[in-house]
Amino acid sequence: MKFRSLLAIAAAFVAIAPAAAQDYPNKPVTVIVPFAAGGPTDVAARIYGEFFSRTLGQQFVIENVAGAGGTTGALRASRATPDGYTIFVHNVAPHVAGPALYPSAQYDPVKNFEPIGTLAFAAHYIVVKKDLPAKDLKEFIAFAKANPGKLNYGSAGAGSATHLACVLFGQQTGTEITHVPYRGTGPALNDLVSGTLDFMCDQGLNMMGQYRGNTVRVLAVAQANRFPGLPDIPTAAEAGLPGYEVSAATAMYAIAGTPKPILDRLSATMQAAYKDAATRKRIEDLASEMPGAGQDTPAALGAFTVRETARWTEAIKKGNIKAQ
Ligand code: MLT
Repeated sequence: MKFRSLLAIAAAFVAIAPAAAQDYPNKPVTVIVPFAAGGPTDVAARIYGEFFSRTLGQQFVIENVAGAGGTTGALRASRATPDGYTIFVHNVAPHVAGPALYPSAQYDPVKNFEPIGTLAFAAHYIVVKKDLPAKDLKEFIAFAKANPGKLNYGSAGAGSATHLACVLFGQQTGTEITHVPYRGTGPALNDLVSGTLDFMCDQGLNMMGQYRGNTVRVLAVAQANRFPGLPDIPTAAEAGLPGYEVSAATAMYAIAGTPKPILDRLSATMQAAYKDAATRKRIEDLASEMPGAGQDTPAALGAFTVRETARWTEAIKKGNIKAQ
């Protein structure tokens, strides 16, 4: 091909790229959520999805691609066309731990994604079925110790945040509780309500509706301070389990290679969501927090993703942890 023709093609491409970015989005955007509908990742994605739809004038449509602790959806997202019409919402811990845990998870949580922003930080809560014969955390731990292997807990799959939080609970309490993996925390919670499961290390984003409806019991929050909206729920330390602190971060990523003007549009919309009182209230009503100063930029999420990838990959290798 002649040099002049190459130049013409390059010029046309340069002209098209900003135009495509300028009218972005001009059709619905797919938001891949790698867990079942109704769970914390899905709930956070829908709350922000509504704000993005309203602000950008196109529907942000949630697609639940569940399986293998969230890695099926992450792999799918990593291979999507990087044009801004597929974006990805995930819980950071299972996202970054996935490739170390699952040989099939052939994606790189840092290189294959572009950080847009953190949607919510959410502490985990110790939640038990309504009629479990233990009225507080100390009694629950004693009951679990007296019944080794007989109680069970549900999670969103091996390597999910709700799994890792319960693994930590077992290690710190010396209890042996059987793991039952689900395709998301939403369906697991249904089984806790029906009494099929005994226990979960759930997030407020998932369990608050059931807690308010008095269909489950919440024994403690796994963070240093009580959540302001739930002043009656003791911290794990107050309830007899010092040092048990686990929290989840849910975040939005674009696909690596997405044009910069589109990334800028998405992150500007995220910044507007942080300022939107209705969106903030919905997150806080679910016992979760929006990112604070220093945590609320794409760069902060990018740095967090890099740190968490290194931390979890090392912990998984050291502990020789495998997804069953
Ligand atoms: C998890 O990692 O446990 C997820 O947040 C579960 C979910 O969103 O269903």
